[in-house]
Amino acid sequence: MDNKYYITTPIYYVNDIPHVGHTVTTVVADIIARYQKLQGKKVFFLTGTDEHGAKVAQAAKKEGLTPKEFCDQVSRTFSEIWPRLNIDFNYFIRTTNPQHEKIVQDLLEIIYKNDDIYKSRYEGYYCVGCEKFVTETDLVDGYCPYHPNKELQKQSEENYFFKLSKYVPVLIEAIENPNHPQHYDIYPESKKSEVLTRLKSGVNDISISRAEVTWGILVPWDKSQTVYVWVDALINYYSALKINKNEEFWPADLHLIGKEILWFHAVIWEALLLAAGISLPKIIYAHSFYTIDNQKMSKSLGNVISPQQLLEKYGVDGTRYLLATSFPSLEDSDVGIEKFTQKYNSDLANGLGNLVARTAKLCEKSNFEFPESKSDFDPAVKDSVEKFRTDEALKTIWSRIQKLNEAISRDQPWTLEGKTLNEKLTNYVLEIRKIAFNLQPFIPLTAQNIIKQFQGPKIIPEPSLFPRI
Ligand code: MSP
Repeated sequence: MDNKYYITTPIYYVNDIPHVGHTVTTVVADIIARYQKLQGKKVFFLTGTDEHGAKVAQAAKKEGLTPKEFCDQVSRTFSEIWPRLNIDFNYFIRTTNPQHEKIVQDLLEIIYKNDDIYKSRYEGYYCVGCEKFVTETDLVDGYCPYHPNKELQKQSEENYFFKLSKYVPVLIEAIENPNHPQHYDIYPESKKSEVLTRLKSGVNDISISRAEVTWGILVPWDKSQTVYVWVDALINYYSALKINKNEEFWPADLHLIGKEILWFHAVIWEALLLAAGISLPKIIYAHSFYTIDNQKMSKSLGNVISPQQLLEKYGVDGTRYLLATSFPSLEDSDVGIEKFTQKYNSDLANGLGNLVARTAKLCEKSNFEFPESKSDFDPAVKDSVEKFRTDEALKTIWSRIQKLNEAISRDQPWTLEGKTLNEKLTNYVLEIRKIAFNLQPFIPLTAQNIIKQFQGPKIIPEPSLFPRI
């Protein structure tokens, strides 16, 4: 199916409630999904929660709940917040869904029968925070660089191993050669180089089961072990389509993820798929991280920003705009409530809000008759969104907004009348319609309001879009 687009977010761990980091990925994915729909594509947009493993089991214990009770509770905080942000996902997958569990087992059984899984002893460290086996070279002063406050677990157990090393040559070839039948791409370029360098420096096989973790899917041929949570989680992208009987959407067009989980998505996932004889996703985009007021976001620092907090302060489209424009597409980007508020006031209240309000007023006063016109995506906006750069796309749109605001201030249309005024207003209205058209994937409700307000034949007065705060 050529006319389809399948896009996914990471499935979020339920040991934590939603924060601005999860929210930016999900909002950007929604923007890309909406853009593709406007291009006439059939879109399947998947998000969900990752519910098995040691980390979740520990969090449940701390709350005095069974893992399942705990998962039900926290998963809901994700599935309920996304619609409030106007996130238009097609399915919300939970890895505790029995249908998903069965698909994971079936897939592993295939890989096992293909002789790509064997038993061996794992000796080393495990970081519960990352749910990841770490090697000595990963460590910084004896700790995981992502979880410097957490003691690493020393582990020694019999596990099942997946022959990852066997797939390294074909993965390198598939990434590097655009004509390879299983070609896939990693964005941005710097992340692709990182993956290739690591692939070329030698890769070991990986343990894909755990003997001591009970909160997980049972290994189908050996019920004394559970499936390693990352293998279970990655398969969600495939199982979700099967569960929905929408297999025609496979392979995924885009896995949008954060940079810390790139190796799983750009190497381990593809190797598992190759081993199971399933075609590979087309693009993995690994974005960077938000810092909050120049610090890592963390519960202990008390600087975590929640989507609820943003919604209350900036509204749905205010929040979507602020996140999409500060999207850490290539580098980490620093955000914070003060910065968000400044940006809201300058770009939304003064920039877009002011432009729409004063033009609408002029049209109303002069009883302006609207011409017909057709709008399309600005080629620069199109190009940016197709590179997943919502930050860059919004810059382009806002430079048009700024130019038009400047032109109005220069023209002083309130001093004009008759034909001259009519000509000026025509120009303004046509440009506002184009701007609104381009805003649709980003701030859909506001874009629709502007489109309606200016569709003619007469202006429809609307309350102010973004009141100053
Ligand atoms: N459960 C795994 C993913 C499995 S996917 C098969 C996981 N979950 S998570 O809850 O930790 O979410 C990680 C994702 O949240 C990141 O990859 C990124 O998309 C988003 N973010 C979390 N913190 C972030 C920032 N500080 N900044 C930007 N995005 C971040 O990993």
